Amino acid sequence: MKILGIETSCDETAVAIYEGDTATGLGVLLAEQVASQIETHARFGGVVPEVASREHLVALPPMVESILAEAELTWAQIDEIAVTAGPGLMGALLVGTSYARAAGMVHNIPVSPVHHMEGHLLAPGLAGVLPEFPFITLLVSGGHTMLVRVDAIGKYSVIGQTLDDAAGECFDKSARLLGLPYPGGPEIAMLAKGGDAKRFKLPRPMLNKDNLDFSFSGLKTAVMYAVKAAGGVESFDLQTMKDMAAGIETATCEVLVKKSIRACLREDAPRLVIAGGVAANETLRNMLFKLAEAKGVEVHLPHPKHCTDNAAMIAYAGFQHQCAGLAAPDEWDATPRWTL
Ligand code: KG4
Ligand code: ZN
Repeated sequence: MKILGIETSCDETAVAIYEGDTATGLGVLLAEQVASQIETHARFGGVVPEVASREHLVALPPMVESILAEAELTWAQIDEIAVTAGPGLMGALLVGTSYARAAGMVHNIPVSPVHHMEGHLLAPGLAGVLPEFPFITLLVSGGHTMLVRVDAIGKYSVIGQTLDDAAGECFDKSARLLGLPYPGGPEIAMLAKGGDAKRFKLPRPMLNKDNLDFSFSGLKTAVMYAVKAAGGVESFDLQTMKDMAAGIETATCEVLVKKSIRACLREDAPRLVIAGGVAANETLRNMLFKLAEAKGVEVHLPHPKHCTDNAAMIAYAGFQHQCAGLAAPDEWDATPRWTL
């Protein structure tokens, strides 16, 4: 079957077409396109919801036509439309879901609502097959930081999450304190390359608490005080910037890595997936591989382009629902707050 995926929950307009065989659960991604609004929002220092909706509205219809042409398909050859129904920005979600519903009605194609986070946590399947169940996924993005136990398609339990800021948010806010543009994660990662992570002593929040939860707002505050104590960002030379960036990156990654491995061991599920924008971080990946190997945990990473928001993961989640025989609900709506 061929599934058209649509994603508009935040600041990326994305479309994709996945073709899979429900008998085997295997398939291939035929085409995908992502249009990022990052540049539009960067001057505001974050995503502006109204602007996001308007940009999706302009971008989405031509992108769908363009991807059908790219895959050399017509609407008649599409078997299902899978669309992100939440969580996310209400206006942005409404653009995607309304478009999907209208197209479904016009072309007589069933529409299936997908949870954005389910897309992220199944994303490693796009590279081939999903890890054996049960596995643990660390979802780390600008809006979420959570550890999820996956027992089957549709059977997810959140076993740990942030009590305040998300890890990506911590990167973004710390970057702002250093005068770096949005999104801050990649900026900090780039600067951190030549930095001494030990120069500034930053906390590892909640690492010594015997649970699987996170807290990152204290780290951001510690960065603020460290910047002040070092004379303010205006006085920083390049090496000081690099050292601070390395300190922030290492502190964040160390907590994420240690808690994720702890989750795998505690849940007796020694298979770990990391997903979400922060999963593109190289230091996180390297630290994770090292500790995972030492502890006997298998690591599955989606391709970096499938770590950030994309529609391939939404089409793939729709396909996996079909394989698992999970029917779309009769009634559904765009849902900005939706627990997994
Ligand atoms: O999943 P995503 O694309 O969007 C959502 O938040 O849903 O994640 C974006 C987040 C931002 O906070 C960004 O700063 C962070 O991921 N990010 C990174 C890196 N690339 C993106 N953080 C650290 N290192 C990176 N290389
Ligand atoms: Zn996301």
